[in-house]
Amino acid sequence: ASNVITLDPGYKNTGSCESAITFLDGEKGVLRYRGYAIEDLAEKASFLEVCYLLIFGELPTKEQLSKFHKDIKEQSIVDEDMKRILDGFPKSAHPMGVLASLTNALVAFNPSSVNVDSEEDMYKAIVKILGKFPVLVAWTMRKKMSLPLNYGDTSLGYIENIHKMMFQKPNEEYKVDRAVIEALDKLLILHADHEQNCSTSTVRIVGSSHSGLFASLSAGIAALWGPLHGGANQAVIEMLEAIKADGGDTSKYILKAKDKDDSFRLMGFGHRVYKNFDPRARIIKKAADEVLGELGIEDPVLDIAKGLEKVALEDEYFKSRNLYPNVDFYSGIIYRALGIPTDMFTVMFALGRLPGWIAQWKEMRLRKEPIGRPRQVYTGYTLRSFKTMSDR
Ligand code: SDX
Repeated sequence: ASNVITLDPGYKNTGSCESAITFLDGEKGVLRYRGYAIEDLAEKASFLEVCYLLIFGELPTKEQLSKFHKDIKEQSIVDEDMKRILDGFPKSAHPMGVLASLTNALVAFNPSSVNVDSEEDMYKAIVKILGKFPVLVAWTMRKKMSLPLNYGDTSLGYIENIHKMMFQKPNEEYKVDRAVIEALDKLLILHADHEQNCSTSTVRIVGSSHSGLFASLSAGIAALWGPLHGGANQAVIEMLEAIKADGGDTSKYILKAKDKDDSFRLMGFGHRVYKNFDPRARIIKKAADEVLGELGIEDPVLDIAKGLEKVALEDEYFKSRNLYPNVDFYSGIIYRALGIPTDMFTVMFALGRLPGWIAQWKEMRLRKEPIGRPRQVYTGYTLRSFKTMSDR
C-alpha cells in the first residue's frame, strides 16, 4: 500500500467499495435499486418485493416471494425476556436509542446469527431480523404510548402485520384504510437503500470486523439517529411546527439558515450527492397531497412546507449551493397523517432502510472486503520527553 495519505474529511471524494446494489446520479436526480428506477418500484412493487430485490439482486417470482415471506413469518416472535430490557427504559427514552439497544440485545437471544460465513447461514440471520425487527419497532412505539407489547397477525401482508402490531388497541376492532397501508409501503420502499450514506457506511465498517449482522445494524441505527442524517425527518416537523407557532413567517427561518453565525439549518434541505432534486422528495411530496386528501386531513404544516420550499428555491443562497428538499422534507407530514408520533419518524426510516443495510452488509461479507481502517494526517506534537508530576 502506498504511504501517500489523501485527506478527505467526510469521505466526500472517496469510493469506499464497489457495489452492484444502488445507483445514484446526483446531477440528474436518478435513483435505481439493482437497475430498476425508484419511480417504477414505488408505484408497482411492494416493500417485501423490494427487500428481496435489494438483498438477492432480482425481483422475486411469486413462489420465491411466498417462500421468503413464509421464512420471515416463522421468525416473527421475539424472546419474551426482551420485554424486560425494554422495561428498563424510561418512557421518555428516544425510540432510536431504544431500537439500537434492542437490536444489539437480539444477539444474546440469537447467538447463531453472529458467525455467518455461508450464504445459507446469512439467509437464516437475514430472515430472522426481517421477522423480528418490525416487532421491536412496534414495541418501541407501544412502550411510549403505554400500550401492551403485542403481536399482529402474520396471516396478513408484511406491512399490514406491522401496522396492526403498531396500532391495534385493546378491546377495539382493528381496521385500517387501504390508503394508509399503500402510503406506508411506498414510504418504506423510498427509504430502502441509498448507496454509501453515513449509516450504511457504518453498517459496512462495523460488519467488516465480523461483528455480525445484528451488531452492525445496531451501529447503523445509531448513525441514522443524527439530525444531519435520518433524524432530519423529525427535525423538519419540529422546524415547521416552530414556524407555524411563529405565525407562519418562513422568511425569518430562511434568514437564520443563511446566517453563517447561526448554526440553524433548513432541515430536510440539501444533500451530499443530489445537487438537483432528490427524486424521493418529489414522489413523497405528491404522495403527501394524495394521502392527506384520501384521509380528509388538512395539515397547515404541509402548506408551510410548500411555502418554505418555494421561497428557498428562489433564493440565491440555496440556489448557488444546489440545496433542494431531500427525502426527509415531506416524509414526516405523511407519518403524522398516519398517526405516528414525531420521535418515531426516524424509527420508520430505519425500518425502511433495513433491507438496504442488510444487502450492503451481505455484499461486503460475500466479497470478503478487508476490515475498514482508514489512515489520517497527523498534526499533533513531535516526540517529547516525559514530564514528572513536579515538572508539570
Ligand atoms: C439523509 O447521504 C445520504 O444519502 C443520506 C440520505 C439517505 O437516504 O441515506 O439521503 C438521508 O440523511 C438526507 C439528509 C438529511 N439531513 C438534513 O436535511 C439536514 C440539513 N442538511 C444538511 O445539514 C446538509 O445539507 C447535509 C448534511 C445533508 C449535506 O451536507 P454536506 O454535503 O456535508 O454539505 P455541507 O454541510 O458542506 O454544506 C455545503 C454548504 C455550506 O455552506 P458554505 O459553508 O459553503 O457557505 O451548504 C450549506 C452549508 O452551510 N448548507 C445549508 C444546508 N445544507 C447545506 N445551509 C442551510 N441549510 C441547509 N440545510
